[in-house]
Amino acid sequence: MIDDRQRPAYHFLPAANWMNDPNGLIHWRGVFHMFYQYNPHGAFHATMHWGHATSRDLVYWQHEPIALAPTPGGPDQDGVWSGCAVDDHGVPTLVYTGVRGTAQLPCVAVSHDGLQTWQKDANNPVIAAPPAEFATNEFRDHTIWQQDGMWYMGIGSTIREEVGCVALYRSHDLRRWEYLGPLVRGDPALGTIWECPDFFALAGRHLLIVSPLPFRRVIYLSGHYADHRFDAEFSGEVDPGGSFYAPQSVVDAAGRRIMFGWLAEERSVAAQRAAGWSGAMSLPRLLSVRPDGTLVQTPAPELQQLRREHWFVTELVIEAGTRVPLAADGDQIELRASIDVRHAEQAGFAVRRSADGAEETLIFYDRTSGMLVVDRKQSSLDPESPVTRRTAVLALAAHEPFALTVFIDHSVIEIFANDRACMAVRIYPALTTSTTICPIAAGGDARLTTCDVWRMASIWPADGERER
Ligand code: FRU
Repeated sequence: MIDDRQRPAYHFLPAANWMNDPNGLIHWRGVFHMFYQYNPHGAFHATMHWGHATSRDLVYWQHEPIALAPTPGGPDQDGVWSGCAVDDHGVPTLVYTGVRGTAQLPCVAVSHDGLQTWQKDANNPVIAAPPAEFATNEFRDHTIWQQDGMWYMGIGSTIREEVGCVALYRSHDLRRWEYLGPLVRGDPALGTIWECPDFFALAGRHLLIVSPLPFRRVIYLSGHYADHRFDAEFSGEVDPGGSFYAPQSVVDAAGRRIMFGWLAEERSVAAQRAAGWSGAMSLPRLLSVRPDGTLVQTPAPELQQLRREHWFVTELVIEAGTRVPLAADGDQIELRASIDVRHAEQAGFAVRRSADGAEETLIFYDRTSGMLVVDRKQSSLDPESPVTRRTAVLALAAHEPFALTVFIDHSVIEIFANDRACMAVRIYPALTTSTTICPIAAGGDARLTTCDVWRMASIWPADGERER
């Protein structure tokens, strides 16, 4: 598995097997605890458990024993699905989705040994059935906050499987819950079932992040919360890259709100099983809000400790149609560039490009459409590799430079552009030589004003400083 060139080296993932959503993120006595949907029996989605890992810096993680497993005959016998963690007056407490047959219901577990082992509540599930008005069994994934000495919980759901919604509950003790009605309901354009709600206050407003089915893209709603109702003024994309899903956020001791999402694979189920692993966690993204209420995501500065060998280029003309490689290359890279798009129609980079040009992945700004584009047509010679384009709205102003940060980590490309477009995209190049990086332009020349490239270290001690 160590020789698997597609396996990320500085994005968190379990040693083997399947993972999906981050769960129960909590900063507890100086340590970040990350739980996640995990199948210990293979690289496919089944028998969901909660895996567990800890970190002091959001970057280097230590694997911990499995936190939660299904209990035969229990309300979670068919899966311990997603949920969250809270500090219940000094007692770490998990609220998760217990699955039995078609029932999906909230369950509680507590730890008395520093988040290592967990005892499930004898009265699980703590809510007997979804609200009748929803007419559905889709009732899962929790977001919990405290207000006026009470606990409030949002649960992802749907109204008659036609529009997504979040059910709102209130409790004194996290065990007995009173239903308060829908926190918010979506409209059909925003999906039919909402998974993994994450609801929080940030910079004077409220944000709700949800993962709507049937799309594999994450949206946020920005608005105001009062009287048990969330009034969403508008919605936006969190990450339309096609891989990032089911994110959850955590507040650290400094008050920063940090989000992780699941990066799903985009290669065949057979290839995932053969590799023995599937899924990775996104990089930690700091969340903030602009005065107009739109969401800003930036990579956590802690990631800078992974930077090793450094290259710098300045004031380089990018001639349209050329492919002149930078001296920097690799498949474990951070690239930060500022590009003056000028009269070019498109400008950006070809990354993971092979010496012969047979493979390359294009990341560029397209002036006509105002889009950030990842073109995967030629990402891999493997015919099963994904080829669809991924795009995010960027709309640069007339003289605004294209400010691009790209993290390349084997099959993961995570892109942050101008503090307003963010995409994680998966590629599976087949050639070992697909490591070069070329500035690109089309329809006119562009200028690479500055460009920093760093080789990035692995986060696993066994890898040492070696790049795989
Ligand atoms: C989102 C999700 C959640 C569910 C979990 C099951 O990816 O479908 O709604 O709780 O994954 O693994």
